[in-house]
Parts: sequence; structure tokens; C-alpha cells
Amino acid sequence: MKTYTVAELLEKNLVLQEVEVKGWVRTFRANRFIALNDGSTLNNIQCVVDFENLDESVLKRITTGAAVHIIGELTESQGKGQNVEIQVSKIDVLGDSDPETYPIQPKKHSFEFLRENAHLRTRTNTFSAVMRLRSSLSFAIHQYFNENGFYYMHTPIITGSDAEGAGEMFRVSALNAKNPPLTEDGEVNYKEDFFGKETNLTVSGQLEAETYAMSLGKVYTFGPTFRAENSNTSRHLAEFWMIEPEVAFMDLDGNMDLAEDFMKYVLKYVLEHNSDDLAFLEKRLLDEEKTKPQAERSEMSLIEKIKFVVDNNFKRVSYTEAIDILKNSKPNKKKKFKYLIEEWGADLQSEHERYLVEKHFKCPVILFDYPANIKAFYMRLNEDGKTVRAMDILFPGIGEMVGGSQREERLDVLKEKMAALDIDEQELWWYLDLRKYGTAVHSGFGLGFERLVMFATGMGNIRDVIPYPRTPQNAEF
Ligand code: 4AD
Ligand code: MG
Repeated sequence: MKTYTVAELLEKNLVLQEVEVKGWVRTFRANRFIALNDGSTLNNIQCVVDFENLDESVLKRITTGAAVHIIGELTESQGKGQNVEIQVSKIDVLGDSDPETYPIQPKKHSFEFLRENAHLRTRTNTFSAVMRLRSSLSFAIHQYFNENGFYYMHTPIITGSDAEGAGEMFRVSALNAKNPPLTEDGEVNYKEDFFGKETNLTVSGQLEAETYAMSLGKVYTFGPTFRAENSNTSRHLAEFWMIEPEVAFMDLDGNMDLAEDFMKYVLKYVLEHNSDDLAFLEKRLLDEEKTKPQAERSEMSLIEKIKFVVDNNFKRVSYTEAIDILKNSKPNKKKKFKYLIEEWGADLQSEHERYLVEKHFKCPVILFDYPANIKAFYMRLNEDGKTVRAMDILFPGIGEMVGGSQREERLDVLKEKMAALDIDEQELWWYLDLRKYGTAVHSGFGLGFERLVMFATGMGNIRDVIPYPRTPQNAEF
């Protein structure tokens, strides 16, 4: 006798064979029908117990949340709602559950409540579907790069540099917090710290990825990144996962092509491999949208939105064009934006990004050639001397999904830029070396993995697409 997963039992045609399955009881109805789930699929398998042959004491222990081991015959189902079911011949309760206190009752729970019970929330349909999709997307990402000749590189998590220059870093230190060694000036003396210098958790693997691109050609990182930005929004995490490809001899146009091709590939992958979970999440989203006013409802369903992205070209628009559009837009003229767009050079806020993708273009948009002074130090300066070869990809419902650029490959220009921003050359000597020895045009981007998962699942809060979200004032679990 073989142990099967629920997915295998529902997929294979094993009718009449004796089978064995283990899982958790979702519901137990009429002392007869167990809906059993083991995480292998969204769907439950119905297990029918003949209570007359079952000990009263065992019967009582079959409660929502209990872990059970079932042996029985897989038969065609007599009832509606499923093709096959198990006629239970033997049932063992492996782990009891307390029906009085078990948090995941068979009813609708709020996402806030489930966040507080994140260790059990994947026992619900919504969260198991989201996390299976998250896993599937990760796999598709590795597959895409593998098929396209990229090497997977593990960039360090502890670093001494601030790649984005935003100063939003978590310090890594082994010093005694109460009584740290001090310098003569009374500052904390990091020379005596574990690494002999100040270190922090990485905000991006890009700078190290650049070094490998300049030898291995095409590389990518896919790892956790950390930002101590105090933004309590539905799109920000303090710990999030980022995919960062970096390619030698590729310019910004190539970078845009790569990003677009990559995103279409991974979204197509889940359309093809996760149809049950997507269908469930699509219905969930429709139900949620019904509670909103008509004007706020999406014109497309979840699967339609994903298909739309896969089948249509992203719109490529320069920052300058975008500013013109925004300046002349209704919400700007009627002073509906919180931050009014008055002149070229303004940093775009999420309200502007959302206007562009959701109202104006109604499709993913790649904005490029941003003003140099609102972007990071490493981006390549254009001939106009005021814009850089940056690109952001904006998605409907999400806003910024990708940030990338062509990198400044000219040593003198890069040094000037670093000096202007007060970035210590000594700290980044190895980064400058790349520009000294065999420098070349190269580009890359970073895709926020959780924002991609949000888009693919239709979940509205980034805390609900990562197992254990880290946000200001919250690091439970
Ligand atoms: O635009 P960002 O800051 O770009 C970089 O870090 C570059 N070094 C990437 C590169 O060129 N290799 O971040 C990239 C993406 C954003 O577009 C966004 O999707 C995501 O990372 N992101 C966040 N996601 C969740 N929570 C946060 N706090 C995020 N900050 C950025
Ligand atoms: Mg960005």
C-alpha cells in the first residue's frame, strides 16, 4: 500500500485501489464526511467514515485541525462536488486539535486576524494558494535564468556598503550594546567590532553582482534584502526578496527587453502550472471587489490581468514625457494629487505612478531617463548631463515593481559623481576597479519579489504574500 498526496489521489485514476493518505481535517460533517487537506493542492479529498464501525472515542477526536492517517478504498463519489472519495477502513488520529481554541475555524477570517496567526494561516485556502504560487514563481525565475545562460550568484547578506545610498540600513554588530568601546572622540569604535568596521544588512546585491557580470557575463541574485525605511504601507517590507540580474555588454534597451521578457515568462509559467490556485484567488478577489464602490473595481479579473501582461507590450515612456502627461492631467489641474507636479525634476510619488499605469496607459509602463539627482550614484549619465539611464517598471495596482539602470562604466564620471555625493572611494575601491580593468557597458535591474507575488495573486497587502512579514514594530515568529 502506498501513501499518496491528496493532489495525486485527485489527479490519478486510482479508483478501487486501497490507498493511504495523511493530512489535516478541514471539516467533519454529519459524523461522516471528512474534508482532508495536506497542502499538496487547494482541493480537499472527501473521506467517508462509517461511524457505526468506529469507536465513539475516535469519532470525537476527528475535529477541525486534527492530523489524521487514513487508509481506505478510493471510489467514484456518489455525492456532488467531487469525482472520487475515500471509503475509510482505518483512521488514526495522529495529532488532536482543540476545537474550542483552534484559531482556524471553518469560516471567513479577516486577514488581520490571520496575520496574527501566521503560523497557521497556510491552513486556509487563500494562504496555501498564495504560498504555492510564491513557490512556483521562485522556481520559474530560476528556470528562466537557467534557460537563458545566467549564473546564479549568492551575494553577501552582510556588507559594508550602502548600494542605494539611502542610508536605510540595519546595523550588524557584535559589540556590547550597553557598553561599546569608544574612540577618543566618544564615538562607537567599530574597529573593535566583529568585522573591524561598520557593517549592515544588504539593501541590494547589485554592486557585488556587477563584479561577477564583469567576468561571468550574465548573472543574477535572488535573495533577501533589508531596508530600515519607516514606511508602514501595503507595499513595503523591512525584509523582502529581490531578483537582480546583471549583464555585461548590455545597454538600457537590452535591460528593458530582458525585464519584460522575464516577467512575461514567469507569469505565463504560473498561468500554465497553477490554474487551481489562480482560479480560487480570482474568485476571492471578485468577492472582495464586490464590497467596493463600482468606480474602484477592476475592469479585469485576476487571470485576465495576468494574461494581459503576458500578451501585451509594456509601454516605454521617458521621464520627461511622463512629466508632461502628469502636468496636464486632470488630478494635477484640479489639485487632486497630494504632491502636485509643477516642474521637471520632481520625484514621482506612487499616486503619479498609479495615475500613469492605471488611468493613462492602462498597462505596465517602463519609465526611463530620470533626472540624475533623484536616482542612485551608479547610474550612467546621459549626454544631456542631467538625466541618467535609469528605468522603473510600473504595474497596475502595484506601482513600482522593478528598478534598474545601465551602470556608469566611465571611471572619471563615476568618481565625480561619488565625490559630489560624498561617497568614500576607499569603501568602494573594488567597485571602482571594475572601471579600471576592462570596463564595459553593463546593466541590470532589481525586481521586488513580493510585489510580483502580489500582482500574481491579487493580494492587496504585501504582508500577506511573505510567510512572516517584517515591518516597523513587528517581527513576530
Ligand atoms: O528600486 P530599488 O531600490 O533598486 C535597487 O535596489 C537596485 N540596486 C536594483 C538593481 O538595479 N539591481 O529596488 C528594486 C525593487 C523595487 O522596484 C521594488 O519592487 C522592490 O525592489 N522594493 C521593495 N519591496 C518591498 N519592500 C520594500 N521596502 C522595497 N523596496 C524596494
Ligand atoms: Mg526604485
